Amino acid sequence: MTLLIRGASQLVTSTGTVARRREMLGTVTVLPEVAVLCQADRIVFIGSEAEALRRCPEPDEVLDADGGCLLPGFVDPHTHPVWAGSREEEFNRRLRGESYMDIARAGGGINSTVRATRAAAPETLLESTLARLDTFLAHGTTTIEGKSGYGLDLDTELRMLETIREADKVHPIDIVPTCLAAHEVPPEDAADPERYIARVIGEIHPEIARRNLAEAVDVFCETGVFDIQQTRRLLADAPRYGWKIHLHADELTPLGGAELAVELGALSADHLVHVTDAGVSSLAGSDTVAVLLPGTSFFLRSPYAPARRMVVAGCAIALATDCNPGSSPTQSMPMILALACLEMGLTVEQALTASTLNAAAALGRADQLGSLEPGKIADIVVLDASSYHHVVYHYGVNPVRHVVKRGRVVIDDRREPCPRTSVE
Ligand code: NIG
Ligand code: FE
Repeated sequence: MTLLIRGASQLVTSTGTVARRREMLGTVTVLPEVAVLCQADRIVFIGSEAEALRRCPEPDEVLDADGGCLLPGFVDPHTHPVWAGSREEEFNRRLRGESYMDIARAGGGINSTVRATRAAAPETLLESTLARLDTFLAHGTTTIEGKSGYGLDLDTELRMLETIREADKVHPIDIVPTCLAAHEVPPEDAADPERYIARVIGEIHPEIARRNLAEAVDVFCETGVFDIQQTRRLLADAPRYGWKIHLHADELTPLGGAELAVELGALSADHLVHVTDAGVSSLAGSDTVAVLLPGTSFFLRSPYAPARRMVVAGCAIALATDCNPGSSPTQSMPMILALACLEMGLTVEQALTASTLNAAAALGRADQLGSLEPGKIADIVVLDASSYHHVVYHYGVNPVRHVVKRGRVVIDDRREPCPRTSVE
């Protein structure tokens, strides 16, 4: 299968196979009026249309970008895409003044989604997850990381990760699975959190590893959830299982999660709203990617992570939605880029790199994904605009017209005008 993408106004991408830092974060390549040739699931050529047609005179499919801008598909390296139920009541309570943690302590929060997810039939979970993936894809996201963590018992954690595996098989989006059994202490163990920790370490993690359902493990390391010592114990077996590590770190309080993530060689430390200076310097001296989630700050009306300070210090930063029913129910990376620029002070170019190449690095996949270059997987977005700035500038709407996933056109939204009434 060969695909030629022609007629683009420009192609904009970071390049390389490692995360970009400091001034390189905002250094993107802008190529005017180039064509892209894809073969099977790979990009094989970027250059003039004439040269593309010389190499492949009769492509199986031609996509006319019609003056749109080409970008790499977004990589979303932190999502909770499987859940049942909905938390708009809690949202409304927060608008009236209750805090996220108050609601959680009163039996809402993560545990209210746990109740709904435990009760959901597997088919229902799969259907709702697939519908969510459709929305990710329509907004230009071609790969996500996906966590469990609304089961908090063996059966439901397995069901969530099986749902991710099944969804990954049947949906164009690629999902990289993470076990987040240590997302919260379930209600049945509220009086004795150590009992749950022992079950995660002794029963849930080993069974998930045995069934090969996860590539990484994560812990919500937070005051009142799992402290540093508990997190350390929960992650101790990760190397034995061949699991990479992500960590919910310093989200609500400065607990030292960033430093722990670096010490353990984690792929990423995520959230980091309250990261300390020591945390920033240890991240800067490491390969652990700082995954920032401005949608969560926006939705919880809380402070934003110190993105600019981290960039100046030399941290590799990435952006993600944190898509989940409580603190950030969006699939839209364009919305996240807008918040990153307007609320955290990134430039559009920095936000693009952070949501493509650096986001791929946060998943250990920057050698395969995150930029438009021959040899990389052909995950490509065509914007409904002629310049890349529109991803942020035209905020609050979906700027994506086409999505190519692994060399196949999977979204084809040509934006025909609505019917007009002719006036005599
Ligand atoms: O990343 N911080 C912990 N977990 C999620 C929130 C999950 C929820 O509220 O359901 C987060 O923000
Ligand atoms: Fe999260």
